[in-house]
Amino acid sequence: MERIPTWVIPISLLLLLIYSANAEEDDVKVSLVSFLRKLSSNNSQIDLDLRWDASTDPCLNGWVGVDCRGTNSVRKIILEGRGLNGSIDAGLLCKAESLAVVSLRDNELHGRLPPEISNCTELTHLYLGSNRLSGSLPSSLSLLSNLKRLNISYNNFSWGLPQDLPRVSGLKTMLAQNNSFDGSIPQFDFSNLQDFNVSYNRLSGPVPEGAHHLSLESLMGNSGLCGEPLPKACPPPPAPSPSQGGKTKKFSAEKVIMVSGYIALGLVVLLFFAYKFVYRRMADAKKGGYEKKVADSSAKSSSGNKNTPSRSEYSLPTSNESAAAVSSSLVVLVNPTTKELKFEDLLKAPAELLGRGRFGSLYKVMLDDTTALAVKRIKDWAISPEDFRKRMERIDRVKHPNVLSAVAFYCSKQEKLVVYEYQKKGSLFKLLRGSQNDQAFDWDSRLNVAGGIADGLAFMHQGLREDGIGHGNLKSSNILIKTNMDPCISEYGLMTINNCQTSPTPSDNTQVSILKDDIYNLGIILLELLTGKVAQNNGSELAQWVNSVVREEWTVEVFDRTLLSDGASEEQMVQLLQVALKCTNPSPDARPSMNQVAAMIDAIKEEDERSIYSEA
Ligand SMILES: *[C@@H]1O[C@H](CO)[C@@H](O)[C@H](O)[C@H]1NC(C)=O
Ligand SMILES: *[C@@H]1O[C@H](CO)[C@@H](O)[C@H](O)[C@H]1NC(C)=O
Ligand SMILES: *[C@@H]1O[C@H](CO)[C@@H](O)[C@H](O)[C@H]1NC(C)=O
Ligand SMILES: *[C@@H]1O[C@H](CO)[C@@H](O)[C@H](O)[C@H]1NC(C)=O
Ligand SMILES: *[C@@H]1O[C@H](CO)[C@@H](O)[C@H](O)[C@H]1NC(C)=O
Ligand SMILES: *[C@@H]1O[C@H](CO)[C@@H](O)[C@H](O)[C@H]1NC(C)=O
Ligand SMILES: *[C@@H]1O[C@H](CO)[C@@H](O)[C@H](O)[C@H]1NC(C)=O
Repeated sequence: MERIPTWVIPISLLLLLIYSANAEEDDVKVSLVSFLRKLSSNNSQIDLDLRWDASTDPCLNGWVGVDCRGTNSVRKIILEGRGLNGSIDAGLLCKAESLAVVSLRDNELHGRLPPEISNCTELTHLYLGSNRLSGSLPSSLSLLSNLKRLNISYNNFSWGLPQDLPRVSGLKTMLAQNNSFDGSIPQFDFSNLQDFNVSYNRLSGPVPEGAHHLSLESLMGNSGLCGEPLPKACPPPPAPSPSQGGKTKKFSAEKVIMVSGYIALGLVVLLFFAYKFVYRRMADAKKGGYEKKVADSSAKSSSGNKNTPSRSEYSLPTSNESAAAVSSSLVVLVNPTTKELKFEDLLKAPAELLGRGRFGSLYKVMLDDTTALAVKRIKDWAISPEDFRKRMERIDRVKHPNVLSAVAFYCSKQEKLVVYEYQKKGSLFKLLRGSQNDQAFDWDSRLNVAGGIADGLAFMHQGLREDGIGHGNLKSSNILIKTNMDPCISEYGLMTINNCQTSPTPSDNTQVSILKDDIYNLGIILLELLTGKVAQNNGSELAQWVNSVVREEWTVEVFDRTLLSDGASEEQMVQLLQVALKCTNPSPDARPSMNQVAAMIDAIKEEDERSIYSEA
């Protein structure tokens, strides 16, 4: 026993670790082999040709149609046009939890798409076109929050399209032509959809708002559809005239009352909310904290609601005067989150300080278990309430899916608040920090984040060009991450040259220089994505370090090691690095425009999408 050298034990442990990290789990392999057997309806010839064998590793032993993209787990399964005539067992398929791309198109598959498909949580591409699939599309598809491209065209799916599907906010392709879907078209975010086709189904009802600009070819062959761009106009909505059927009349009248009720409620809620902030600020001025005390409740009279809880955590304005003063400065831009909110819920809403910076503080306010708002309190901004209001309303007119729109803002001489929907996944800063430890943040996701930020900023710069409103304070903690891993730029336009001196751009022309600052700061964010390092201050140290390494032709040394070991494309990383270096050029005039940056990143992304789909 004593003769066993002590180093043997750690080394064999290490070998064990390496071994287990390198192989796809056994039960996953067995599941995938069973999946294929069902897919081919026990066709042993196909099974032989494809060489899927549970005693070998799919990532190392060349299972045909399987790709791990340099990782240790199955990322893609592409079995197109292979005469498969069985059915899809999604429960077995999704045992491979890292699956991102599944294409089974151009086969003769029959049966349903089982609801267990939602267990493939990482799925981004699902191609099932040209098969004989039938039955209803499972509503669990809407749980696939990473899904970008769905092609189920040329099958025999029936029943309705899942009305929840628009919850998949990153969906870019939705192709369902030549099926037997009936019912109405769900309310997709059509501005975000690149490909949409529901031709030749049995859909009916009005074409949704936002889909009127689609081409006729995307909608034709549905005899029950009406409204633009189709030639058939929709019947006018039933007017609430006495001669009409009592039922419809009552229904629409009720609806009107309900909707206006929500609007009123929303207004009351936000009024109160803004007041609460002012009140809290005064009360907490000494403590600087954000805890709350039970205050007396004069709420009942103001809310006009019999069921107001007997004890509230806040007090409401006691005089009508103060309420009026608040209402004159509160502007509600859009209020999607609070439309079902009850007043009592808000009374209990806890608030929490998320962060405090040089230019203000950020709070999270929980309206109920599911609805949270983020509130930015801006410090020391010498802008008149009138100018602030104009500025906020101007910014609100330019909307992009990758830029967070304000829900409301409040402004008085002393106080400026901007209210956003709270994003629970947190910021890019947090994600980069986390990926240094355990959380995976792979190259595809990083490239997607880079492209999304550049697209959003290019759109805003273009739309606000005349006003010269840039972001002004772009940094990774202001880039929020949506649940589908798309980026969302927060706090757009809350900084002007007067209240910010962060970046090293010297210039007299303040409006131009704030745009050039944004480009510099985007360059720093790109460097953070590439290096996995978090920039300090304005990022000039990070930029200098990267420049010095690149000058010495040690370029690969700057990249995040986890990316390289993940099998990310080095070529693409070098391309993105070049974009970053152009953006961080010390001379503002030499930096590209935001449009150019977005186009450069899009080109790299497109190449990446093609490579997802190429081999295998
Ligand atoms: C495939 O084979 C299994 C047993 O090996 C059997 O239970 C199953 O019914 C077969 N399926 C088809 C479609 O033939
Ligand atoms: C699938 O194709 C094979 C021959 O290619 C055939 O024997 C089998 O009956 C087919 N199964 C189904 C379910 O169509
Ligand atoms: C889906 O995943 C959950 C959690 O991993 C698991 O409990 C469940 O059994 C899975 N469903 C199927 C059908 O595999
Ligand atoms: C969708 O699937 C159909 C059938 O497989 C195919 O012909 C078509 O090219 C696909 N469209 C896209 C955009 O992938
Ligand atoms: C499609 O499904 C419907 C039932 O939903 C059926 O009547 C029809 O025959 C099917 N068409 C094809 C081509 O399989
Ligand atoms: C789609 O449906 C239309 C109308 O029925 C038909 O003309 C067309 O051939 C179909 N396309 C395919 C590929 O089946
Ligand atoms: C949608 O699908 C139909 C039927 O296959 C096709 O004729 C049409 O060109 C497609 N529309 C677009 C916009 O691609």
